Amino acid sequence: MPLSPFALERYFAQHEFTARYLLSSSDCETLSQSDLLGMADTKTRLLWEHLRLGYTESPGHPLLRQEIANLCKTVWPDDVLVLAPEEGIFVAMNTLLQEGDHAIVMTPAYQSLYQIAESLRADVSRWQLETDGVRWKLDLTALARLVRPTTKLLIINVPHNPTGFHIDAETQEQIIQFAREKRLILFSDEMYRFSEYTAEMRLPAACDLYDQAITLGGLSKSFGLAGLRIGWLACKDRTIIRRFQRFRDYTTICNSAPAEILAAMALRSRDRILDRTRTIIENNLAAADQFFANHHRHFEWIRPMAGPVAFPRLKGTDSIDRFCEKLIQSKSVLLVPGSIFDFPDNHFRIGLGRRNLEEGLEKLGEFLVEHYV
Ligand SMILES: Cc1ncc(COP(=O)(O)O)c(C=O)c1O
Repeated sequence: MPLSPFALERYFAQHEFTARYLLSSSDCETLSQSDLLGMADTKTRLLWEHLRLGYTESPGHPLLRQEIANLCKTVWPDDVLVLAPEEGIFVAMNTLLQEGDHAIVMTPAYQSLYQIAESLRADVSRWQLETDGVRWKLDLTALARLVRPTTKLLIINVPHNPTGFHIDAETQEQIIQFAREKRLILFSDEMYRFSEYTAEMRLPAACDLYDQAITLGGLSKSFGLAGLRIGWLACKDRTIIRRFQRFRDYTTICNSAPAEILAAMALRSRDRILDRTRTIIENNLAAADQFFANHHRHFEWIRPMAGPVAFPRLKGTDSIDRFCEKLIQSKSVLLVPGSIFDFPDNHFRIGLGRRNLEEGLEKLGEFLVEHYV
């Protein structure tokens, strides 16, 4: 079955490099190459200076895989395959699913988390996040109702894009226990790990807790390094990792050599980079709290629990699609309407990881005054 267009990526392709205020980005403020090189230690600096631009080791540079394994407790470098994050989803779904299999996907979702499964003619059920207007909730009893004898894969994403929903360690344990009992493979999209608001909220990588769990991680979001195109799949079942590797020979074969060394530099300086991310998000959250309190007549602010995105709701009768279109035309401010996530009810995604959020909010405030008073 052909793949449907990726609505979010097409929307960004149209606006990302022309809109002046990107108020909806999910990646955090980008680091420059010189920022990163300035953080290099002797080892990575030497690797950079002597770098040869040939093909690289297909699972990923050994030092980089070691640094990724260090983000987990019980994972070894050989349990890790380095690839672009989006490629990781494509490789995993194509390897694990075939026609007739059933997958359950936490929804709303980053489109490839369900679209690739559907294109493979797998049956996909949505495990729906719900809101009471104050916070997002996930019903574990609904998960039990969705499971079938053919269910092969459970796909989760926390911290969650686009809602900013997060779970606690006990809920993570319950989900893993459920997957274990039902013999499901758990695909855990952890692209927003490390952008929790406190250290206590950070969950273990799912691949540490269950040998049939696959963690998808990457440097695009919390690390502000989307342009490196470096992410990883980690799983303690090496037969799964080997299958991924065999499929990956048909996508990119291996990673960009400079990106791998820059990624290793970033992971070896992760405390500095992540402190910077947390400070930016913390300041932006305070600004967003204030903005939405001031404009409660127009918006329902559902405060995110973790990560750099939130999914508030526009009140009133105007559709969020029209609102976003008018906003970009009159103020060059980009917000992503919930329809792009195939989600009803006038929600929109706002990004909290960029330094110019307050300027964007100011423009949004002007727009409200000009069009909605
Ligand atoms: C939940 C989730 N998973 C995976 C990805 C893919 O990451 P990348 O764009 O770096 O390939 C994204 C990107 O927005 C995402 O939000």
